[in-house]
Amino acid sequence: MPAPQNNLEVYSRLDKIKNLPAIPEIMFDAISVLKSEPGNVIKIAEIIGQDQGMVTRILSVANSPLYGMLRKVTTLEFAIMIMGSRELENVITAISLSNAIRFAPVANFNDQDYWKHSMTVGLTAKDLARRLAMPEIAGDAFIGGMLHDIGVQLIVKYFPDEYQQIFSTLNESNKFIDLETSIMGLSHQELGAYLLKKWDLPISLVECVQFHHNPLDSAENKILVAIVQLADFVTNQLKTSNNIWDEGVVLDHSLSKLLGFESYDELIKFYTEYSELMTDVVTSKN
Ligand SMILES: [Fe+2]
Ligand SMILES: [Fe+2]
Repeated sequence: MPAPQNNLEVYSRLDKIKNLPAIPEIMFDAISVLKSEPGNVIKIAEIIGQDQGMVTRILSVANSPLYGMLRKVTTLEFAIMIMGSRELENVITAISLSNAIRFAPVANFNDQDYWKHSMTVGLTAKDLARRLAMPEIAGDAFIGGMLHDIGVQLIVKYFPDEYQQIFSTLNESNKFIDLETSIMGLSHQELGAYLLKKWDLPISLVECVQFHHNPLDSAENKILVAIVQLADFVTNQLKTSNNIWDEGVVLDHSLSKLLGFESYDELIKFYTEYSELMTDVVTSKN
């Protein structure tokens, strides 16, 4: 298939894909039980247990050093109990949506690296929201952080030739996101946002995906998106995984005011101290 010439062509190619990934049913089933019987650990575990991939990832979240558990979480039941229904709903939503796009192994794309990056940015964004005294957006920050690069999965699945072309053209002066735009007419931001809109997800999450490289362009959720960008930046600086699509991610100077810092220097001071705290994550096997 020839490379699309502009973004309209990409959108129209996406529109023609009859089987765009749907939200996995297990998400609705699990959330409905969480709401009607929040204390029924056995029933919740039964539903989640139908998808071993989801179980593994829930345990991986619970055991991340960023999650802050003092002891190892080895069973799904224990994870359900310690997370509580509200938190578990966010975790199930984020994992279900990020597991929705499936494909066979592809050259130059490591699924495990993608997962680790998504989880780390999600957990970091949640942690940052709390530290910056915005606990009310911590849940959205977590889900938005987990999903922020979902458009990369769409490129790998539906535009494999373009993905390889981008990959082979990458170098110091050609960043992944710029190559996406020059080769495809749009980036993983717009592609991911397209899918989230199809899924009818809240605008706060759509904007986390659509503007995480340029939060100031967000219309309604600048602070939330800025937190996701900061989480993405910290995670990339610490090289927590090998995600070439974010190589060269920069931190927007004007985020400092948005996030309540006196100056850009204050933000850098915060970032530096925070990075030291995060060093554990770099060595984590999760
Ligand atoms: Fe990105
Ligand atoms: Fe990223």
